[in-house]
Amino acid sequence: MCGIVGYVGSAQAGPILLDGLERLEYRGYDSAGIAVLSPEKGLQVKKAKGRLKVLSALVDEGRAVEGTIGIGHTRWATHGQPNDVNSHPHLSQDSRIAVVHNGIIENYVEIKEYLIGKGIRFRSETDTEVVAQLLAYHYRKTGDLMTAVYRVLHRIEGAYALGILCADMPDAFIAVRKDAPLLLGYGQGCSFIASDVTAIIKHTREVSYMEDGEVAVVKADGIQVYDALGQPVEKERCTIDWDVSAAEKGGYAHFMFKEIMEQPEAVRKTVHPRLKDRRVVFDELKVTPDEIRGLQRIVIVACGSSYHVGMVGKYNLERLLRRPVETMLASEFRYCDPLVDEHTLVIVISQSGETLDTMAALRQARSLGARILSIVNVVGSSIARESDEVLYTWAGPEIAVATTKAYSTQLVLLDMLGLYFADILGSVKPEEYESIIEELQALPAKMEEVLENTEKIKYLASVCFNHNSIFFIGRNLDYALGLEGSLKLKEISYIHCEAYAAGELKHGTISLIEDGTLVVALCTYAPLFDKSLSNIVEVKARGADVVALTDDSHAEELRKTVGNVLTIPDTHTIFKPSLGVIPLQIFSYYMALQRGCDIDKPRNLAKSVTVE
Ligand code: AGP
Ligand code: GLU
Repeated sequence: MCGIVGYVGSAQAGPILLDGLERLEYRGYDSAGIAVLSPEKGLQVKKAKGRLKVLSALVDEGRAVEGTIGIGHTRWATHGQPNDVNSHPHLSQDSRIAVVHNGIIENYVEIKEYLIGKGIRFRSETDTEVVAQLLAYHYRKTGDLMTAVYRVLHRIEGAYALGILCADMPDAFIAVRKDAPLLLGYGQGCSFIASDVTAIIKHTREVSYMEDGEVAVVKADGIQVYDALGQPVEKERCTIDWDVSAAEKGGYAHFMFKEIMEQPEAVRKTVHPRLKDRRVVFDELKVTPDEIRGLQRIVIVACGSSYHVGMVGKYNLERLLRRPVETMLASEFRYCDPLVDEHTLVIVISQSGETLDTMAALRQARSLGARILSIVNVVGSSIARESDEVLYTWAGPEIAVATTKAYSTQLVLLDMLGLYFADILGSVKPEEYESIIEELQALPAKMEEVLENTEKIKYLASVCFNHNSIFFIGRNLDYALGLEGSLKLKEISYIHCEAYAAGELKHGTISLIEDGTLVVALCTYAPLFDKSLSNIVEVKARGADVVALTDDSHAEELRKTVGNVLTIPDTHTIFKPSLGVIPLQIFSYYMALQRGCDIDKPRNLAKSVTVE
């Protein structure tokens, strides 16, 4: 979580840092701060609780600080209240070293006690401050900043991306990374660090990704990277090819709505290069047909919405492959002594490629001998780099905290992977394969069709937004879809809602249904349409207000029982969730809008969850 940016060059650093932080704010928004250094004014640190605009006003959009080198931070607090004092950058006692940090220093208590014993006074409650204080302590002892940095790195435990600015080193700052994202940017006569490329893409497209344990000395005329032992490292550079506008709102009120509307294009970009002569082809995969035939089990691990993609995947992949597929939350998988081995394929799904729980699950699975295939959106992210195989979703940058287009691209890619394996295993009849390919090709256009009909959803939101408790019910793929619909709604509208397998409701939860309870009934899974209809009748009999979703073929039938019916075009069963999720995203969006919520930056959340 949290966003870090750093700049050194010939321009004033303040405005550049604030602009970068604005683009990183989706990563954390408890507070923001910058440290800028100039020969005349020395090290100036400005920080403020709350959104970036508070800091921006405090420093006159960056103009109130002077200097051409600086570091900045947006915080998602883990240790200590989100207040001014706990905001980053943190200073050493002598105020000559400033540090910004993303992650958690797990052994900070013991280091803090040690330093207090040495007479050092702490200002904040954060874990981060120990880095600034310990660094200053070793710097005083050794007289050499790099030596001090390495000593600190030997002592601290946990996850961290760090930016370090020292008043005695006016032409460079230092960057460090372990288990938290950080990249280096190479500009014309200037250099950058950032948690995410969106912060610096305006200035440069040439970047390299730091590896765990690396230390970078960042100067205007170049960046020197050293490994954990202090040996120089030649970094490979890559060029970011997406456009700046991809990370801007482009006339939409919210990133989330823009990203919802971008889904057909994102899915097209993800599908198109992998479809040749009406067959799914993955040129990027190294796994051989024999290895695929030798797989005994597939385990999908992920968090949040990516886990919900995995839930759909369990149903679709088992149907296509007739092999056992299990989907697990990464945070559970990593501590459950999982039963995976060299005959297991572990599919890791992550938009950011940086989610700590998912990363830990990946490492756990790899240490047990499993082959790791990841589905990731952010090129060069940690999960992508540590996997045996990577399939990228081409969703482009996703800024809204609530995922939409990344979910849709992950889903279609997982379905395609299932089809690819099924083709090799011969587990799907040729006619069915053909019909699935046909629907896959038609999917982006059908998504567009759903997006053209948002008025009814908007109206429904305007009459439903006062509900305090909502249930999503569905069977099979509709149950998996409900999990995502419910998460979307709760994360941005703050309405309590739950997703239930419709058949499970009567085993307890139906006692919560009373007059006026809103139930969103998902009936897109045709084989169980009649069963779902019975469940709708049951909740209606207990007073529930029902909004239902189905496909065009079943709409008329459903309207005999339910007044409010939303529809999606007919498609092959496996793609129903790909179409069905769109009305649910739009419903959540308008519900949140009606309730006056901060849609792109919901309370307590952050886009990239790099803490446990
Ligand atoms: C989705 O809307 C959420 N913001 C969240 O559940 C997210 O999907 C989860 O944190 C996983 O993130 P990842 O895909 O980047 O690993
Ligand atoms: N653990 C640090 C803090 O709470 C950093 C959190 C972050 O990554 O924003 O201040």
